Amino acid sequence: MFKSIQVKLVTIYILLILLAMEVVGFYLMQSLEKYHEGKLTENLMINAQLISDFLLVRHLTSERKLLPSATIEEYIKQVAPTIKYIVVMDEKATVITSTDETKFRKGSRILTPEVMKATFGKQADDIREDPETKKSYKYLAYPIKYNDTLVGILYLIASLEDIYETLKNIRIILLTATLLALLITGFLGYALSRTITGPIQEVTKRAALLAKGDFDQKIEVKSNDEIGKLTDMFNFLTGQLKATLEEISEEKEKMEAILTNMADGVIALNSEWKVIHINPAAQNMLRLEGEQLGENFTEKLMEIFKIHPEDFPKAEQAPQEKLGKVKDVTLKAIIAPLTAEGKVTGYILLLQDITKQQRLEEMRKEFVANVSHELRTPLTTIKSYAETLLDGAMDDQSVAREFIRVINDEADRMTRLVNDLLELSRLDNKEVKWNKRPIRIDYLLREVISKMIVNARKKGLRVEYDAHGEIFQVFADRDKMEQVFQNILSNAIKYTPEGGSIFVKAENKENWVQISIKDTGIGIPEEDLPRIFERFYRVDKTRSRELGGTGLGLSIAREIVQAHEGDIKVQSKQGQGTEVIIKLPALV
Ligand SMILES: Nc1ncnc2c1ncn2[C@@H]1O[C@H](COP(=O)(O)OP(=O)(O)O)[C@@H](O)[C@H]1O
Ligand SMILES: [Mg+2]
Repeated sequence: MFKSIQVKLVTIYILLILLAMEVVGFYLMQSLEKYHEGKLTENLMINAQLISDFLLVRHLTSERKLLPSATIEEYIKQVAPTIKYIVVMDEKATVITSTDETKFRKGSRILTPEVMKATFGKQADDIREDPETKKSYKYLAYPIKYNDTLVGILYLIASLEDIYETLKNIRIILLTATLLALLITGFLGYALSRTITGPIQEVTKRAALLAKGDFDQKIEVKSNDEIGKLTDMFNFLTGQLKATLEEISEEKEKMEAILTNMADGVIALNSEWKVIHINPAAQNMLRLEGEQLGENFTEKLMEIFKIHPEDFPKAEQAPQEKLGKVKDVTLKAIIAPLTAEGKVTGYILLLQDITKQQRLEEMRKEFVANVSHELRTPLTTIKSYAETLLDGAMDDQSVAREFIRVINDEADRMTRLVNDLLELSRLDNKEVKWNKRPIRIDYLLREVISKMIVNARKKGLRVEYDAHGEIFQVFADRDKMEQVFQNILSNAIKYTPEGGSIFVKAENKENWVQISIKDTGIGIPEEDLPRIFERFYRVDKTRSRELGGTGLGLSIAREIVQAHEGDIKVQSKQGQGTEVIIKLPALV
């Protein structure tokens, strides 16, 4: 109840008014009482003087004594009806006469303090309450002197009741006025404080709505005082807050968009290793569904990357790298601590799919191993044949000739291998200078066939060539394309047993020129097909080597076709034959 400013203000107003009225009333009453009393004393004094003068003139005996006389009585009764009692005494304080015979009997002595003082010639007064009537009276004892000799004493007693009555009335008036003032103050205070508390209540209400997230709060500024400034400031703050929050949420959305769309996985853990954020990429990499993110997710994570909570990097430690495998995907996790004021508050795990990278790395190693192996085999042969020759085989002409032929063959093989490797390396490093121009593929094919038909005939193979109508031109490097066809055709000849057939076909297919080289040879097992374009990959290594192959022909062919924005694929059935299909964009 007393918490409300309104009540406080009204209470303060009322207390202030009460205090003011009390102070004013107190001083007013005091001074009024003093004034009236003063007036009464003055009145008594004047009367005393008058009566004394009268008595001295009329009733003084030759012995300088006041005479008892009925006229005194008459006179004093007339003098002042305002004076309650008038007593005339001789100089010894013995009553001569009075206005009340029963109270002040003639001949009795009055011994009140002021009368006693008067017997010594000194005027004295006092205010006292009459013990019988319980009423207050003003007593004045006045010495009557004749030529400085005390001849009698006048004792005047006036009631104070009238004054008290007046004061009481004034007090009542004051009290009513106070009550009225309080009532008016109460009302005014209530109304006035409303003008202060009203806007404050409004601001409080709006602030509560603001806290609930409703930022469209604007209070009408009605005045230019402190309250007006407060509402103005409130409006300003609301605006600022809204703008700042919008900025923050925009930033957050941006961050969210980045996290959602980035290729790397991001997982945020708190200091208890519980997941607080995981982006879709990370979920994908870990093959997670929503419900698997629960309690033992972190355990699973630690199992994948073989890391214990104690191994997590501490504050100020460098991020750690860990490798893990999920199915056939290799993941690299970079674990970095999140720190605030030197304490670890959580961890960020950055996940990268390095399967491809690893595969490339493996391929590179394999390639180096393959190259070394492929080069060592002919070298070993050359070396052993040369040694045998030096050991005396040279003397036998026919053996020597045979050995030297083998050495020559092996040297040729090495040359082929090195040439193929150089070719591949140039293709890889994009060092090849392409001499592209519009060419007719059908003409080129005919030329290649005519160059190789001798080899085919040697094996008793039938070669059929088929190109209908006008074949589109292609934009290609003639020598390189020749190399491709030679490779594929020689494969067909190599891997087709005697008596088989080879069909070469060129045709227009929409915007493409399609070349097919099909044989009825040994074919390629299904499981080897996907790897057939890999460097050094051969279905049967020994056989390929015997036939003079390097295992690089198809790789080179594919590199060249791809450099022409074309496509090459192999279809085959083991024991039935193989078909190589090349598509090149037509120049139309
Ligand atoms: N026409 C084909 N018939 C059967 N197997 C083939 C044919 N063409 C290629 N191959 C297989 O693909 C492998 C790779 O071919 P290639 O890269 O030309 O190497 P190479 O001919 O030097 O052995 C060959 O070793 C062979 O096993
Ligand atoms: Mg080949």
